[in-house]
Amino acid sequence: MVDKILSELYEDFRRRDNHGKLADYIPELSRVNRANFGIVLTTIDGYQYSYGDSEVEFTIQSVSKPFIYGMALQEYGVDKVLEKISVEPSGDAFNSISLYPESGRPFNPMINAGAITATDMVWQLYKDETFDRILKNFSTYAGSPLKLDTSVYNSESETGHRNRAIAHLLRNFNILRSEVDAPLDVYFKQCSIKVTCRQLSIMGATLASHGTNPITGKKALKGKYVPNVLSVMASCGMYDYSGEWIYNVGLPAKSGVGGAVLAVLPGQLSIAVYSPPLDKKGNSVFGIDLCKTIAEQFSLHLYKTPRQIKHVLRRQLTLRTARSKFKRDLGAENLFDRFGGDYHVMELQGDLCFATCELFMRKISDDAQTLVLNVRRCTTIDDGAFMLIYKLHEDFRQSGRCLYITDYTHLDLLFGWSQKQVEFLRFREHDDALNYLENIILEANDYEVKLEPVCLMDQQLLANLTECEIEELKKHLVHKTYLPGETIIRKGSAAEHIFFIESGRVSIHDTVDGHRDVTLAVINSGNCFGEMALLDKQSRSADVKAQTTVACFVMLYEILDRIETLAGIKVKILTNLGATLSSRLRRANKEIASFT
Ligand code: DON
Repeated sequence: MVDKILSELYEDFRRRDNHGKLADYIPELSRVNRANFGIVLTTIDGYQYSYGDSEVEFTIQSVSKPFIYGMALQEYGVDKVLEKISVEPSGDAFNSISLYPESGRPFNPMINAGAITATDMVWQLYKDETFDRILKNFSTYAGSPLKLDTSVYNSESETGHRNRAIAHLLRNFNILRSEVDAPLDVYFKQCSIKVTCRQLSIMGATLASHGTNPITGKKALKGKYVPNVLSVMASCGMYDYSGEWIYNVGLPAKSGVGGAVLAVLPGQLSIAVYSPPLDKKGNSVFGIDLCKTIAEQFSLHLYKTPRQIKHVLRRQLTLRTARSKFKRDLGAENLFDRFGGDYHVMELQGDLCFATCELFMRKISDDAQTLVLNVRRCTTIDDGAFMLIYKLHEDFRQSGRCLYITDYTHLDLLFGWSQKQVEFLRFREHDDALNYLENIILEANDYEVKLEPVCLMDQQLLANLTECEIEELKKHLVHKTYLPGETIIRKGSAAEHIFFIESGRVSIHDTVDGHRDVTLAVINSGNCFGEMALLDKQSRSADVKAQTTVACFVMLYEILDRIETLAGIKVKILTNLGATLSSRLRRANKEIASFT
């Protein structure tokens, strides 16, 4: 679903006019193909959505600044770096000479003055090895080896007069500690490192993943410095557009005159856009607009980041395993085992947002002709998540498949929509959806529903008894009728009887947390209840109540031992009971295995 939406967005932007202009103060940059256009979204588990020119190389330019700033932090610590570089948005352009008047300290590490200072701090430690170390660190972020674009480097070095002026002013204030040319040369090289949109997106996802590359698992930056880097990206990364950016888009980001915009949503994802035409502030026109559109559509604003992402999918199973509370006989169970594979169930939990929806949607099986999404354990759903789920429903419908969301009434957005009688919200209760789908399987396979009253010969637990045995047994049974709501068995009472339901329906109840009544099962005619204690002689484990008027044949356990003519019947009953219990145990094991 995410892929479908992003590819539609890419195609929509690709058809748009772009009135931006190529950077020309670095002559080599004016020679790039202005039509280049790529988008890559990378998730914190390394999954990538790539569109267009995602493999075209371009120079990283100012998008290098967060990463060199991270290197300086890692080498010197926050306090030492703060002595040299402040963290205040300047509100000025990237090449402004924004220094504090007395100290000469650059306002922040995202403008050229601050970035040159950060590069100098690293240069002070590694001198001639500095650029190799920068390349190595940036390659760790990217998860693949990066190289220098010598043409752009030469072009920038030959025309970098303004940066030379800034660097000499920094030297004048002793912010650059020893010299100008060498660290500035490294800065020019750092800006001229070649990346692709895909590599840049992985660099951003590394920041989103607390400094660990989500694909290689390698550490590019100590996690404790990641918030420092992201916060200056959030406050200063778009220069004199940063205020509007963080207000409207809400993502820590960095732009570059090479045509890139990199946006990071901590704990979730990164988005890299490559489109060379720039606006007057030196930011990629498409980069800005696309990130804004994606952030709005998927509700990605930083200040609503959800608590947990990776564990959104609590359980994934099919109707081969999942069952409604309606107890069925072995014939029905066999049909579910054979035909339940097309009916999938996913139990979700936590916040439903872009990242959690993107994650569970990637795990939807292609075999799912029908999918039930249970959201009972979900805490919130935002607009972006709702949009994705709604489009998922449309996609299912258009491809002749069915999607149902269940147990959603606590989520306002879904509950509100359910008032519009939309098909995918028709089942408020999860069990109703499962029961509905079970009945579809039974009807599709001509399962013969036992008509009431269901005689003893057709009782599940009395299968394989002969007519004589049934007649003999019937002599020792008592026929009883219970009214709707009447309690037939009480939890904790002594267990002495089995009840064969001739007509009507009962429900099994337990009390949870001392007060909450939970329906554990619903048993229809043709089935029995109270049979478990025949094996373990334990007291009753739950209440049994009549849901409708119920007619039963009631059998005292002890007659199977006391009456000699029933000895053979007991073996058959225990065999049938064993088959039922082993079927339930097998399914319980599969249910346990279905937890992710
Ligand atoms: O120092 C410069 O001017 C360039 N190497 C980088 C400037 C840049 O990318 C500004 N960002 N939009």
